[in-house]
Amino acid sequence: MEQINNEVETEAKRRRTFAIISHPDAGKTTLTEKLLLFGGAIQAAGTVKARKSSKYATSDWMAIEKERGISVASSVMQFEYRDCVINLLDTPGHRDFSEDTYRVLTAVDAALMVIDCTKGVESQTIKLLEVCRQRNTPIITFVNKLDREGRHPLEIIDEIEAVLNIHCAPITWPIGMGKRLAGIYDLARGETLLFDPTNPDQRSVTAIKGLDKSMVDERFAGEVSDTQDEISLLKEDGRHFDRDYFLEGELTPVFFGSAMNNFGVIKALEALVDDAPSPRARPAIERSVAPEESNFSAFVFKIQANMDPQHRDRIAFLRVCSGRFSRGMKLLHVRSGKEIRAGQVVSFLSQRRETVEDAWPGDIIGLLNHGSIDIGDTFTVGESLSFTGIPYFAPELFQGVTLRDPLKGKQLQKGLQQLGEEGAIQVFKPIIGNEMILGAVGLLQFEVVAHRLKAEYGVDASTRSLSFYGARWITSSNKKKLLEFERQLAGNLAHDASGSLAFLATSKPNLDLTMERWPDIEFHNVREHAQKFTT
Ligand code: G4P
Repeated sequence: MEQINNEVETEAKRRRTFAIISHPDAGKTTLTEKLLLFGGAIQAAGTVKARKSSKYATSDWMAIEKERGISVASSVMQFEYRDCVINLLDTPGHRDFSEDTYRVLTAVDAALMVIDCTKGVESQTIKLLEVCRQRNTPIITFVNKLDREGRHPLEIIDEIEAVLNIHCAPITWPIGMGKRLAGIYDLARGETLLFDPTNPDQRSVTAIKGLDKSMVDERFAGEVSDTQDEISLLKEDGRHFDRDYFLEGELTPVFFGSAMNNFGVIKALEALVDDAPSPRARPAIERSVAPEESNFSAFVFKIQANMDPQHRDRIAFLRVCSGRFSRGMKLLHVRSGKEIRAGQVVSFLSQRRETVEDAWPGDIIGLLNHGSIDIGDTFTVGESLSFTGIPYFAPELFQGVTLRDPLKGKQLQKGLQQLGEEGAIQVFKPIIGNEMILGAVGLLQFEVVAHRLKAEYGVDASTRSLSFYGARWITSSNKKKLLEFERQLAGNLAHDASGSLAFLATSKPNLDLTMERWPDIEFHNVREHAQKFTT
């Protein structure tokens, strides 16, 4: 029986660690800013926006050298709301979309999904939600831009359910939209919040009990009766909020509002505090680890390389799973068996890099290191634990790499091996042929790797796009079939940095057909860091 610590339990219970998932331009930055305003982490609107104005620059790896301080500090934001400590993890989007975006989702306990009401469910949201669904992460939905003429709310709900395969339980519901937006109705509390377009900050709106035409200007009487009808329909459909169902990731409470006007945002924040889970037990290969255990444990979900070009520092982002972290404590890096003293640890409070003194389950800490730490690594105070649930995701974009200077072959191998282990890119060595293949989920990853190969390993490599559709890791309990598969499809097979076998499909039909033809072979679209698929 592991030792439980009351102080750790109290601190863990008040943590809410989440990420915002959305398609670019749905309003993630705007919403982040409003949440930080509520939490008092920033004093004025515009702070986060100012950062975003450099969003194209941040995708340029050279410019990252300059921007780095800002982008790291803002990748984890911590603020307090009511009696909760909220950790908001940034999911890099736009051109910065990469495996990091997915991996951040392995470190959160809930996600806030933002949908633009004029667009509905968009492609990047689908991908990100898929990762959440695989992990049963509870999702809160915020339908944004209600001040614009959008799609009908019932249509949006239907689309979320059909496309994302999750039940919707509307908590607030719009009264009109666009120019005819009169407010929102809170179904759970039975009260109305009126929208005043002349007030740019709607934080102070007071709720009025019930919903009645007399509450609004007579121009909006039609909107009120439509809302009344829609609410009856929602009730008839039995769409009510069930917290257990939400915690299992099967149902999402839905909120409507306008982040830009700070309207309806607080309702989603309240749900995060009241209903989203505090850190839960986390599986490791050896056992399940409860947050309230007194011994510290954490895993690495992201590595930001070369913080300072002079020092080649890297920051490993650790998600605390159990116990209390205090500065200066000795940590066991389980994979290497080495003990390190965690003196150089940063936290990400209020967008400033500060030295952290204490951290609790759910918090994120940054460990400065010189390249010995990899994604998926576990840290403890002595126990041999390997956390699971931090996978490599099947790449969707591929490039072949060849050397301009053939004498640099060794450096290229070493560079790719290290960058692969660190999780910057996935590296495949085909069974047939000499060209190394890089796999990524976002184009930026290729740029970063090309730059780092040159800057850190002195390798000038040329790349070319390859038109593979996707990679699947291969396993089978039938050794004979596996050997036959390897023989027949050698031209499409490669080993990744860990030596795990992967099938590179040329197209979707090629993948489907191969899966159909080889029923004894298992095709995996994720591979655990803690696990190798070697044959
Ligand atoms: P992102 O981080 O998800 O990419 O989105 P972001 O918050 O930057 O919002 C994208 C655009 O949508 C921005 O406009 C932003 O002002 C606008 N927006 C966000 N929330 C709302 C809302 O509730 N209503 C309306 N009407 N617009 C909203 P932009 O023109 O790209 O930038 P800006 O000039 O306004 O900064």
